[in-house]
Amino acid sequence: MNDQSIKKFRFGSPFETKSTVKSIPEEKGSPSFVDITADGKTISYRLGKNDKVYGMGEAVRGINKRGWIYETYCSDDPMHTETKRSLYGAHPFVIVDGESVFGIFVDYPERIVFDIGYSNVDMLSVTVGMPDYDLYVITGETPLDVVRRFRELIGKSYIPPFWAFGFQQSRWSYATSSSVRAVIDGYRKNGFPLDAVYLDIDYMEDFKDFTVNSDRFPDFERFVSEVGKENIHLVPIIDAGVKIEEGYDIYEQGRDNGYFCKDKYGNDFVAAVWPGKVCFPDFLNSRAAEWFGMNYKRLTDAGIDGFWNDMNEPAIFYSQAGLDNAIDKIASLKGKNLGIYDFFNLKDTVQGLSNSASDYSAIYHNADGERVCHDRVHNLYGYAMTKSASDAFRRIAPDKNILMFSRASYIGMHRFSGIWMGDNQSWWSHLKLNLQMLPSLNMCGFLYTGADMVGFGDNCTEELALRWLALGIFNPLMRNHAAIGTRDQEFYQFKDREAFRSLLRLRYALIPYLYSEFIRAAEENDMMFKPLAFEFRGDRFAEAVEDQLMVGSNIMIAPVYEPNALGRSVYIPEDMLAVRFRSEDDFTVSEVSQGHRFFEIPGNEVLVFIRKGRALPLVRSADCTKKLDLSTLYFIGEPSDGFTFTLCTEQGVRGGESVIAKTVFTFSGQTDPEKKIFRAAKQ
Ligand code: GLC
Repeated sequence: MNDQSIKKFRFGSPFETKSTVKSIPEEKGSPSFVDITADGKTISYRLGKNDKVYGMGEAVRGINKRGWIYETYCSDDPMHTETKRSLYGAHPFVIVDGESVFGIFVDYPERIVFDIGYSNVDMLSVTVGMPDYDLYVITGETPLDVVRRFRELIGKSYIPPFWAFGFQQSRWSYATSSSVRAVIDGYRKNGFPLDAVYLDIDYMEDFKDFTVNSDRFPDFERFVSEVGKENIHLVPIIDAGVKIEEGYDIYEQGRDNGYFCKDKYGNDFVAAVWPGKVCFPDFLNSRAAEWFGMNYKRLTDAGIDGFWNDMNEPAIFYSQAGLDNAIDKIASLKGKNLGIYDFFNLKDTVQGLSNSASDYSAIYHNADGERVCHDRVHNLYGYAMTKSASDAFRRIAPDKNILMFSRASYIGMHRFSGIWMGDNQSWWSHLKLNLQMLPSLNMCGFLYTGADMVGFGDNCTEELALRWLALGIFNPLMRNHAAIGTRDQEFYQFKDREAFRSLLRLRYALIPYLYSEFIRAAEENDMMFKPLAFEFRGDRFAEAVEDQLMVGSNIMIAPVYEPNALGRSVYIPEDMLAVRFRSEDDFTVSEVSQGHRFFEIPGNEVLVFIRKGRALPLVRSADCTKKLDLSTLYFIGEPSDGFTFTLCTEQGVRGGESVIAKTVFTFSGQTDPEKKIFRAAKQ
């Protein structure tokens, strides 16, 4: 790699984010491509008419981000409408793809505004609040080159355990061991595969981190072990806020050791989240981070080997100060005849209690001796929480690869965990958003990711559930999760069980391919999900496709994301094979030629397109990942002479990381060209 392809420019005194792993010398002059205002606060670039802009990681809208204004600011906001500027993760990296191809990464953990041709269609402008940041300008021949170089800069992506490629069922909440048992039975008795069930906040005692409610989960350890024998992993949630309660040891330890974030007077900052009043561990303080991380041991000791970290933007329902103000305001209005603007103002006051800017500004960290206002480091909080757990896992359980993903994130956190796409809704538009976020997140190093399949908020229809499953089987993190109060949406609850079962079983048949392509992407700093624009350069139709993806090196997917659809139009960028799956062993293969085509796709079918000269490996499905027999693979396709497929398998764990074994399958033209299906045993 040409080291000149990454240039680093330092402005002011940036806060150390630990986003990068490679040290790049600072340049003295000014960056090429972009202009920077004299105060250093705005970086701009004049976009060519057809330039595309990729990146932004977790964000709304399409794969090409041009035409909207985004803000990198970790936000607890479950309404992912297209008008939103921020979601839970903050990923300040964009790639311009036009006459010049380059990426910019603005390493700055405060809010950054990325105006990507919104205020002025021809301008990309990136504005920070204070000129204290590192700017990296990354060049390459293609956007994929830029991604690879960026990823080399920020380090290798997290690899979860193999079982985390199995299907996982969640709900807020399976609040008792018997409700967890009922879900396991619902899947197993109906012949649906399953690898994990999630424990949302109600497994705890009064929402207290690292506790388990013993009425609801009597003999928790035994229960974990019992379901473990059935190859089910239980994955509890850990929230950022620690309940304030005398006698609760975690709270008392945090308080007594000064491990919590402070207010401006140096008292523990107090806010309310699920448990009521909480304090927030100061993850930017290494001793506090180590302390919090080591507490996961209470659960790993009980046999737990997976976690999801939540509410770590951090989410704040209200602070005492905010609530007092709001109550005073309401009291002052009592008995008055309110004008309409006073009324709206009142409403905003109450709604604005949560995640308010003034509360964030009132939080102070002790970053190993330096007192830092939270505003300066907001986007690092969830990252630091998750890193604290990851660091602890290496010590607590070096013989286990522990699954972990977080809600909030920043660039660099991808080295320690995955993320999920947060609280989406059971909306068709969010099925499409799931598809479109995958490549953008991959650009930023987040490979282990997925949306709450079927939608978290709101009630889903059977049709949406089945269509979402047809995309969900490709998500590395394949989890069905639902909010409290929504209808039951475990897949066995729907009427056409056969269709749901077949697609779920198909996922398991695809796991060798998905896992192997995931590992390859992680090791080679590649993207597992690519837009067609990255693969078929110069094809103007391919470059405009926003609703199909290349998955790994060999296949393309084109899911249906609209209701009442007979099927959909697909752009076939080169001659391919179309495989129409009804189940893992009920499928037909046909040749399709380059061009725009309409495909009828009934809800119980999944269409996969195999690239010319390549093949898709499948394994016989099983009811959990552990039972997959990876010794024999079936291939569909017409691999050209010399085509190889490298199967990756997990051969144990060392130092908390999976040890990956590789088996290369090589093809020599001896396959049956008529059937396009053949078997290959391990060599
Ligand atoms: C947050 C999480 C969601 C979880 C809920 C209750 O909204 O994003 O996944 O179910 O909190 O813990």
